[in-house]
Amino acid sequence: MKKDIQTKEDIARLVNVFYDRVLQNEKLVHFFVHLNFEEHKPKMVHFWSFVLLDEPGYNTNVFDKHANLHANSSDFNEWVSLFHSTVNELFEGEKAEAAKFRATTIGYTFGSKLDALNNQA
Ligand code: HEM
Repeated sequence: MKKDIQTKEDIARLVNVFYDRVLQNEKLVHFFVHLNFEEHKPKMVHFWSFVLLDEPGYNTNVFDKHANLHANSSDFNEWVSLFHSTVNELFEGEKAEAAKFRATTIGYTFGSKLDALNNQA
C-alpha cells in the first residue's frame, strides 16, 4: 500500500516527479523549458506545503503568475490530469486526495478565467 503525503520531503518528491512528466509532455513542455527549476521547484514545494501541511508564509498571487502564459483551459486540463496521475502513482490517502482536489479546482478556475480573458481581445 502506498503512503499518504506527510512531509515536505514527500512534496518535494511529488514536485520532482511531476516536472519530469511535464518535460516529457508534448502539450505542456514549451511552457516550462525556459524556467530555472532550481528557483521554481522550491516555490512549488512551498505552495503545496502551505496548502497541504499548513506551512505558513506563502503569499504569492498564483493567478498573476499564469496570466500572461497564453495557456487555455485545454492546457490546464492536461496539467491537472498529469498531476492526478503523478499523485496516484506515488501516494494514497487524505492528503493525496486533497492535493488532487485543489489542483482540479485551481486548474478549472485559471483555465476558465484565461479562456474568458483571451477571448475578449
Ligand atoms: C497549463 C497549466 C500551467 C502552466 C503552463 C503553468 C506554468 C507555470 C509557470 C511558467 C510558472 C512560473 C511563473 C514565473 O515564475 O513567473 C508557474 C508558477 C506556478 N504555478 Fe503554474 N502552471 C500551470 C498550472 C498550474 C496549476 C493548476 C497550479 C496550482 C494547482 C499551478 C501553481 C503554480 C505555482 C504555485 C507557481 C509558483 C508561483 C510562485 O510562487 O512564484 N500552476 N506555473
